[in-house]
Amino acid sequence: MSSNPIFKNPRAEHNFAGRSCSITGVGSYVPERILTNADLEKIVETTDEWITTRTGIKERRIAAADEFTSDMAAKAAERAMQMAGVTAEQIDLIIVATITPDMPFPSTACLVQHKLGAHRAAAFDLEAACSGFIYGLEVGQQFIMSRTHQTVLVIGAEKISAIMDWQDRNTCVLFGDGAGAAILQHRPDSHGLLTAVMGADGSKAELLSMPGGGSRCPASAESVNSRLHFMRMDGKETFKNAVNAMNTAAHEVMRRCEIDITKIKCVIPHQANQRIISAVGDRLHATADQVYVNLHKYGNTSAASVAIALDEAVASGKIQRGDLVLLVVFGAGLTWGAAIIEW
Ligand code: UT7
Repeated sequence: MSSNPIFKNPRAEHNFAGRSCSITGVGSYVPERILTNADLEKIVETTDEWITTRTGIKERRIAAADEFTSDMAAKAAERAMQMAGVTAEQIDLIIVATITPDMPFPSTACLVQHKLGAHRAAAFDLEAACSGFIYGLEVGQQFIMSRTHQTVLVIGAEKISAIMDWQDRNTCVLFGDGAGAAILQHRPDSHGLLTAVMGADGSKAELLSMPGGGSRCPASAESVNSRLHFMRMDGKETFKNAVNAMNTAAHEVMRRCEIDITKIKCVIPHQANQRIISAVGDRLHATADQVYVNLHKYGNTSAASVAIALDEAVASGKIQRGDLVLLVVFGAGLTWGAAIIEW
């Protein structure tokens, strides 16, 4: 831990007596099957040209019929555990951020706990849509900072293809499946997660939702015929809200740390649309080189999005020990969040 860091530690401001929380391991998993824009041209009335220019997406991964969110989550978790040198017995808590659980209950986190053999761990799901991974990091780190737990596993995992309306070209070209995971622990030589913001606006819940399957609209022949068990989105409104919320959240965490964008080594934004990423990058005055993008390969993987991107950025050497990393997300709810991590 640098004794004279280039940033202010916002946790210290609150006289918080707790210890720091670092990400000591990351891992990700994407399914083998690739669905290209050319493949989608055969399914709905669309073109590679439209998808590429309007979104930046070229292909996405689709899980096998017998491959579920918990399977992908467990694979990503095993990789993160390997990097952190953590055994299943050491895990105290598992948080799975997802909007596509294996089933409404029990939680996917419980299924992951069993798959990993993490018998000691408590487990629950967290639902903040595409913002779920940052929500999960912020929740998980409380247990490390308060010394309640030593090792927390946070996973963002989605089988979005299971709730995709393959007749709706407005949505089915945008999303993909995958999982990313992080191990949270105290590391004495790092400030770790410096600060995070989480936000929500339930008045705009209708912009992006899956109306069927809950207590408001339980499954029925009618709900199935009305296609209520698929995701629906008002793309244009969601787009505008995403740019504004991500920009505001990112500025807020930098303000708290008293740094500007030049101090950030790598910005990892939610991977929903290249035009959203570029608009946020411009407002932050980030260079293209600072902003990590893997959207062209995976599309929008919702809660898994920044988790997969973080793992790839670390694996590629783009993020080194001591670097400052800015994560920024936006999703249904509406929800949003940002975090700054000293790696
Ligand atoms: O992860 C949560 C956050 N999610 C997001 O942030 C997504 C935010 N929204 C977006 O990324 C964009 O709004 C979209 C990519 C969904 C749509 O882009 P847009 O520039 O806002 O297009 P639009 O909705 O205004 O649609 C323009 C046209 C429409 O045709 P008309 O009505 O102008 O004749 C659409 O029907 O493009 C049409 N269109 C398509 N055409 C070919 C919509 N989807 C397609 C498609 N292929 N797949």
